[in-house]
Amino acid sequence: MSRRNREIRARLERGDEDSVVNFLLFGTTFTSLPRALNDSARIGGGQRAAEVVRGRTADLIAGIASPDGKERLQFVREVVARRRIDPATATGREQARIYFDDLLARVDAEIDGYAREIQAVRSKPNGPEFAVRSSLYRARGLSSDTSIRPDFAIDRALATLTSKGLMKAASVRRVGVIGPGLDFTDKADGYDFYPPQITQPFSVIDSLRRLGLARTNDLRLTTFDLSARVNRHLQAARGRADAGEPYVVVLPRDRDGRWHPDLIGFWKTFGSRIGENSTRSLSSPAGVDVRVARIRQEVVSSLDVCDLNIVLERLSPSGDEERLDLIVATNILVYYSVFEQSLALANLASMRRPGGLLLSNNMLVELPTTPLHAVADARVIYSEHPDDTDDIVWYRRQ
Ligand SMILES: C[S@@+](CC[C@H](N)C(=O)[O-])C[C@H]1O[C@@H](n2cnc3c(N)ncnc32)[C@H](O)[C@@H]1O
Repeated sequence: MSRRNREIRARLERGDEDSVVNFLLFGTTFTSLPRALNDSARIGGGQRAAEVVRGRTADLIAGIASPDGKERLQFVREVVARRRIDPATATGREQARIYFDDLLARVDAEIDGYAREIQAVRSKPNGPEFAVRSSLYRARGLSSDTSIRPDFAIDRALATLTSKGLMKAASVRRVGVIGPGLDFTDKADGYDFYPPQITQPFSVIDSLRRLGLARTNDLRLTTFDLSARVNRHLQAARGRADAGEPYVVVLPRDRDGRWHPDLIGFWKTFGSRIGENSTRSLSSPAGVDVRVARIRQEVVSSLDVCDLNIVLERLSPSGDEERLDLIVATNILVYYSVFEQSLALANLASMRRPGGLLLSNNMLVELPTTPLHAVADARVIYSEHPDDTDDIVWYRRQ
């Protein structure tokens, strides 16, 4: 167990490298070059695209050589330093270039591999595509990426559960968010003009209050994550909240993103039950609308932050009062094999109050021993782009 725990936690370093690759390709503040993937119309393909990536790599290296207190550049510098590379020297800058090239090639090969894996099972009649998809990232680095999208999907699923009478008014008192994530590089658009942030715990509290599922003063939310970076971020936010500071969430929306009107509606009201619109002005890129929500300090202070590897560890509640009425786990179980998912479900089931719900966007393979079973699911559409959807599944003990 300890060995496996160490192995799983070691995957975080590769996830950090994946975030660095996304930042290199998409980031908007350290370079004036177009975004390597999103601006493909502007770039054109082949030769020019390779030039853009080379230019972005050089700009990122120059950025991390003197990060000037910029949090993301500082983080990339720390990732590079793990390889004993010092970008302040000419040799270090050359080593950084080779390191980034290797990372780009690794990530590229991995993405091709996922596509091939799906294709291979698809071509077999009655192939196990669903099983392969449900644990597609089982060997991938553990990334912390997150965005407003899964928050919206959970909000919609909670609204559906409420309208079907499956969740009762004021019935949620204890909530767990497994893997809240940390938005380092916004993968949809690459904007990084605001500090890294966490949204999911706040969004879940906001949705529960808006839908009348939780009472204002009777809700405790615990985050469970194995990433020290995620946990440190939340603890620092709590510390600042204890000193009277709200938590600022910045939500960019590209006007060309063709978002679904419901997602736009969610974006407009994000945090309205637990915070205020900020009057602080932010300089945002052209064509981008920004909403800023300042989450009230008492909400931030009320979060419990727990370091936990849900595959191998569990919180042992002292009684039913401590058990969770609702567990949210989006974009996390897909990083594990069917066996590890089963262990995670056993841990989740033990932390849950009888009748409590698990909401996830992973449709999991259920074994005879699996303690929780999918009851139903709700499809959420994010934008006009085909396939830009999610399915939120709710699990219960049958
Ligand atoms: C890709 S992010 C997803 C964030 C957010 N839930 C979302 O849907 O956007 C995955 C998160 O799960 C965490 N995580 C991965 N494996 C975990 C595990 N075994 N136990 C607890 N947290 C884990 C990561 O550190 C990260 O914060």
